[in-house]
Amino acid sequence: MIKLHDKYFKPYISAEEIDDAVTKMVQDIADDLGDEVPVFIGILNGSFMLVSDFVKKYPKPCEVTFIKLASYEGVKSTEDIQRLIGLTQDLTGRTVVILEDIIDTGNTLHEVHRIFNNEGVKQLLIATLFYKPEAYKKDFKIHYIGKDIPNKFIVGYGLDYDGLGRDLPQVYQLKTTQHMTNLVLFGPPGAGKGTQANFLKEKYNLVHISTGDVFRYNIKNETALGNLAKSYIDKGALVPDQVTIDMLEAEVEKNADAKGFIFDGFPRNETQAEALDKILESKDSKVNAMVALEVEDEVLVKRLLERGKTSGRKDDSDESIIRNRIKVYYNETAILKDYYSAQDKYFGVDGVGNIEDITERLCNTIDKL
Ligand code: IMP
Ligand code: MG
Repeated sequence: MIKLHDKYFKPYISAEEIDDAVTKMVQDIADDLGDEVPVFIGILNGSFMLVSDFVKKYPKPCEVTFIKLASYEGVKSTEDIQRLIGLTQDLTGRTVVILEDIIDTGNTLHEVHRIFNNEGVKQLLIATLFYKPEAYKKDFKIHYIGKDIPNKFIVGYGLDYDGLGRDLPQVYQLKTTQHMTNLVLFGPPGAGKGTQANFLKEKYNLVHISTGDVFRYNIKNETALGNLAKSYIDKGALVPDQVTIDMLEAEVEKNADAKGFIFDGFPRNETQAEALDKILESKDSKVNAMVALEVEDEVLVKRLLERGKTSGRKDDSDESIIRNRIKVYYNETAILKDYYSAQDKYFGVDGVGNIEDITERLCNTIDKL
């Protein structure tokens, strides 16, 4: 995925596919024109890349030139007559092939026809790499089309979004689903995950999905997945990954308009991490970062024992149980640290200090994503 100005674009047409489409156009045009020496005219700026690749492939002698259409200064409407820049050559009696990067509404094509009507050309042929049939509003014949595309905004291979993107060798499509920030929040017991998740979800307008809460909710409300999960728990067995994954996916689907998620307690292993990638990919999104609160064991033990005094939680009052929970955490999550590190998505954040300082450290990391 790429970002141009304020918008996000996803890969849409590969350089190979473009090359195949250009090759096909070249062959069709060369077959039709035989030994006629055509004048290929590219419409700037968008067509520069197409024209370059096109004429390199063209098997016979040809001429190449460019023209540019520019709106008269101060005139706003897109329907306005445009001024022509660059046509200095006598085209009388010549076969002219217009090479366009894209034909959308056909307004530009209308101008092209208006201009070439007075040039006394032998024939005017229109060739476009991309064509949006749903957007085209004119009757002019388009003789050669590289590829039909849906009525969505694209960039790359000459096409721009407000000046950017023309240089890209492949074509990207505007993402219609909004950009999400998805965090996998990690930290050993006592690291302060819950506290920080609450701040982060407010600040970044994210939905906090805690696996523990999701399990409890599904079991309490006796959803199909909840009952299934309970049947394993009651037997003392581990809930299979797929059940957990399905519950998480349902939770993501429930929040279709979310600006992103904080995943807490999920994923727990590589299978789940890969499943999460797929779930987010289907929403044109991804995990942006695994953010891990790093706190030394001794500090954790002290914090949890302190908490145990007031919370009455049994597992917070026995030091050996606490130490074991911390050990289990590191054993379980080492693999995920590797998984996200390999993608440069692991960010360790110092989790010692007062709550506001830790929040600020987390925000510094997240703001850079
Ligand atoms: P028309 O609507 O056929 O006249 O197309 C006008 C111009 O709009 C094209 O030459 C492009 O410069 C631009 N355009 C149309 N669709 C797209 C797109 O999807 N991406 C980038 N530019 C586009
Ligand atoms: Mg154009």
